[in-house]
Amino acid sequence: MTNLMVKVRVKLVSWDEIVDWTRRLANIIEESGWRPDVIIAVARGGYVPARLLCDFLDVTDLISIQSQHWVEAARMAEKAILRYPYKVDLTELNALLVDDIVDTGESLILARDYIVKEWRPKELRIAAMQWISPVAKIKPDYYLIEVKEWVWFQYPWTRLEDISQFITRIFREDERVKGREVEEEELKQLFIEWYGIHPHEVREYWDLALKKLTAKQILVKTSKGYKLGK
Ligand code: ADE
Repeated sequence: MTNLMVKVRVKLVSWDEIVDWTRRLANIIEESGWRPDVIIAVARGGYVPARLLCDFLDVTDLISIQSQHWVEAARMAEKAILRYPYKVDLTELNALLVDDIVDTGESLILARDYIVKEWRPKELRIAAMQWISPVAKIKPDYYLIEVKEWVWFQYPWTRLEDISQFITRIFREDERVKGREVEEEELKQLFIEWYGIHPHEVREYWDLALKKLTAKQILVKTSKGYKLGK
């Protein structure tokens, strides 16, 4: 998964792992004997796991709430915010709040408190695929993997966004490349060094990320390679 020399520990997650993890998470929920009437996905990370849990748990009612903390891959914003708060009536219903991962847990706490107060479910429980126990301020009722050493889970639904930010971060923070142009081969080596994943593991996302960063003028294409734009 990762090696000890990298700057940012990254676990590249495949779609197959997502399906496998949510199936096993559904199993844990089922075996607890508790059944949700409605699933609430935390946008955006909880969407795919929540949808798959609906399938595995045979739940038809899926709604969502947007609570955001992370603005950039492996970088945290100052505080979590609830976007588009709205009201629904969940009295009488068991609700399961689903996110991909509990990291600090702040966005989940914000969503949970809002839902309990404003939507009033009979009971609200929380499920996530991963729980980073040393940093989390909350323990989900259901989780599949307890993560004991912090790592960035590169989920398949943020692949382009993450790879783009990973590349940008090299240009902005690596002292060896500050202010100069970098050939693509060297960039690939730096990427491996920083994140412990090889660009060929993310295939077309590598080229797409460079294309997008160039279009946005975050990077500028030079005759030899790339340099930092704005
Ligand atoms: N979102 C918040 N923390 C995360 C992490 N460690 N990995 C992936 N997504 C996250």
